[in-house]
Amino acid sequence: MTRETWKTQVGFILAAVGSAVGLGNVWRFPWMTANNGGSAFLLLYLCIIVLVGVPGLLGAFVIGRRSKRNPVGALRSLSGGSRLWGAFGLLAVCTTVLLVSFYTVVGGWFVRYTAASITGGYFADPGAYFGSVNYGLPAFGFALLFLAATAVIVYGGVERGIERATKLMMPAIVVFLIALIAWTFTRPGSMDGLTFFLSPDLAYLRTHFLDILPAAVGQAMFTLSVGTGTMITYASYLGEERSLPFDATTIAVLNTAVGVLAGLLVFPLLFSFGLDVGSGGPGAIFVSVASAFSTLGLFGRVLGVVFFAVVLLAALSSSISMLEIPVAYLVDERDFSRGRATGVMAGVVAVGAAVCALDASVFSLFADTLVNLLMPTGLAGFLLFVGWVLGKNALSEYEAGAGPLGRALGSPWLLFVGVPIPIFLLFTVISRLLSTLG
Ligand code: PFF
Ligand code: NA
Repeated sequence: MTRETWKTQVGFILAAVGSAVGLGNVWRFPWMTANNGGSAFLLLYLCIIVLVGVPGLLGAFVIGRRSKRNPVGALRSLSGGSRLWGAFGLLAVCTTVLLVSFYTVVGGWFVRYTAASITGGYFADPGAYFGSVNYGLPAFGFALLFLAATAVIVYGGVERGIERATKLMMPAIVVFLIALIAWTFTRPGSMDGLTFFLSPDLAYLRTHFLDILPAAVGQAMFTLSVGTGTMITYASYLGEERSLPFDATTIAVLNTAVGVLAGLLVFPLLFSFGLDVGSGGPGAIFVSVASAFSTLGLFGRVLGVVFFAVVLLAALSSSISMLEIPVAYLVDERDFSRGRATGVMAGVVAVGAAVCALDASVFSLFADTLVNLLMPTGLAGFLLFVGWVLGKNALSEYEAGAGPLGRALGSPWLLFVGVPIPIFLLFTVISRLLSTLG
């Protein structure tokens, strides 16, 4: 049986952008920014995207395209059968299962808000509504709906399911965010939100650097889908020679743009409605846009449905990229049929989602701590693999299909991913661990 490949030239980049752009941008980024000093966080985060995120994406692409395998098979085969590297790949697969568990809960919140836009459920008190629906049995029910949609698409396979779902999402989400931002700036008080988000606060950065660093690293990993094996797996379906440096840069730019747009929407909204930025927590996006829609009457309902549904589409193209990892592992390495693998994994994720949906502290353990620990650890391992196991082979894989600029950056890239980036990542993991324990 020949392995599936992306059907069109743009198939890979569409799917990778689809994986990157999701709840991480629209939901988690405003939350993390709000809790970590606003503009200071933004600045640090942008530096990490450029210095760690893009080289990290490239590392994943190189592993995936060279091996044409899932993360476990990739690390094992490229290392000449090392069990240790295989086990590390399995850790990445497990990380992805944990991630998709809490992601499903947040996806469920978006399903719920889509429905509540129709009925006007949050119109009476948008500030309190989030707190009344975020955890509990109904939240789990909505999460299951989201999970079912994810599983159906994953079952459909790479080309039919994933490639198509993404084509609509990007333009829709950008147009929508820009329209809402334009409206927000007609409201008094919105400029203060802009200041909070954009005016550089170097004093805060200096005094809180070590506190916000792990959060910025975790957010960068999460939003780019690196450190989990997703990008390895997607690149493993690359049939033709694309320029990996070009694709990695494109993905990072588009993904960052959507995050920044979400920030440009959420913070001006929160300030203009007099809502406390810090207290929003994981509800920041919901409370802010629900407040906006609730002032617009019937039009607000229509707007709400479309907005939450568009974000749901983006969320699905990300959640399928997570569920695909354990499914590809079971199919490739354990001889499962695709149907059985999808069914088994959906069951496991449903259990994880139940645990996250029923308890707020478990939820934040998944949504925050795990991201800040497991994803940077995963990426550090992949990059050590690229630098020390693949070495020169990584460079030739990197160079295949790359343009002159990309090629020129190849050697510095290999050096960078082999030593400084893993050290930096492990440093943030350890400092995060110490601050959690201490
Ligand atoms: N990057 C996705 C987002 O920003 O919503 C989340 C994600 C997808 C993380 C896939 C990890 C992953 F493997
Ligand atoms: Na993202």
